[in-house]
Amino acid sequence: MHTIEELRVHFEDLLQGLVREVYGDKEPIQDLCAYALLGPGKRIRPLLTLFVTRHLGSSWEEGIVPALAIEMIHTYSLVHDDLPAIDDDALRRGRPTVHTVSNEGMAVITGDALLTDAFRLISDPTFFSLAGPLATEIRLTLIQEISSAGGSWGMIGGQAKDISGGSSMSISEIEEMHRLKTGKLMGAACACGAIVAQADQETVRHFRHLGEQIGLAFQIQDDILDHTEWLGKSPGKDKKLGKSTFSTSVDIDLAQKKLNDLYHHSLHLISQYPSEVEILTPFIQSIYQRQCKMTVT
Ligand code: IPE
Ligand code: IPE
Ligand code: MG
Ligand code: MG
Ligand code: MG
Repeated sequence: MHTIEELRVHFEDLLQGLVREVYGDKEPIQDLCAYALLGPGKRIRPLLTLFVTRHLGSSWEEGIVPALAIEMIHTYSLVHDDLPAIDDDALRRGRPTVHTVSNEGMAVITGDALLTDAFRLISDPTFFSLAGPLATEIRLTLIQEISSAGGSWGMIGGQAKDISGGSSMSISEIEEMHRLKTGKLMGAACACGAIVAQADQETVRHFRHLGEQIGLAFQIQDDILDHTEWLGKSPGKDKKLGKSTFSTSVDIDLAQKKLNDLYHHSLHLISQYPSEVEILTPFIQSIYQRQCKMTVT
């Protein structure tokens, strides 16, 4: 039985192994992929995959391939999100952003490389030696899941709404943007955990829904925490950029109520699939209890 912290350390070791094996050639593009990936991220999405896999009775190692691929895709989205053409941020994961340590052109293609290599990782069993065997059908299902969540119908669709939305979006428009830009990839992270555990379609749908709820809650918290220093990002960015967020455009009590509802709904969703492995619930509680001005009741 593993604790949350033990699995986090295992995942970190895997990520370092991947970087050594795949990005070890010291080409500038590889150095930048390694730099972006090894920044001290919270690893929430890959851990969701590993914990759902465990929750459903499989070994967490079954989830290694989608967990790594999703962290690569999430990392690419951050590299692009920080570009001057999008959020123009100089700080990420407590360190200078990729375009700051290199240049914009290299940051664009660092994102391109991470995205493309993520799909190579899923589809090519020889790409990373620690990835373990996965049936071809499962690989294809993972590609479908992750590409539909990451593309124009998912995360990128949400980023498009963010870029063009301005400061006067309605609450329901902000919520829809958040469901897409953050909810979809977390939904895929949970769904992939169920897919590698060879769960049936209904179970996969159930865990996708759970991940989407967590992602929405996570983005609401991110909006609320935007002004804080300790996230390792430039504080106050949303306001400065004139964004519509749950902090700039929504009443704090309403945001709190929304978080509470999502929290209880998430616990309810997990309780519908009881497990002998008690690791998913505490992890999800820890996500909701991210230090912030709100108290989850
Ligand atoms: C940042 O995600 C982008 C959002 C969707 C809010 P995280 O807060 O999970 O970033 P890392 O991976 O820990 O750096
Ligand atoms: C980013 O949202 C969501 C992505 C898909 C990258 P934000 O722009 O709010 O993320 P941060 O605050 O820069 O991490
Ligand atoms: Mg953004
Ligand atoms: Mg941003
Ligand atoms: Mg933000």
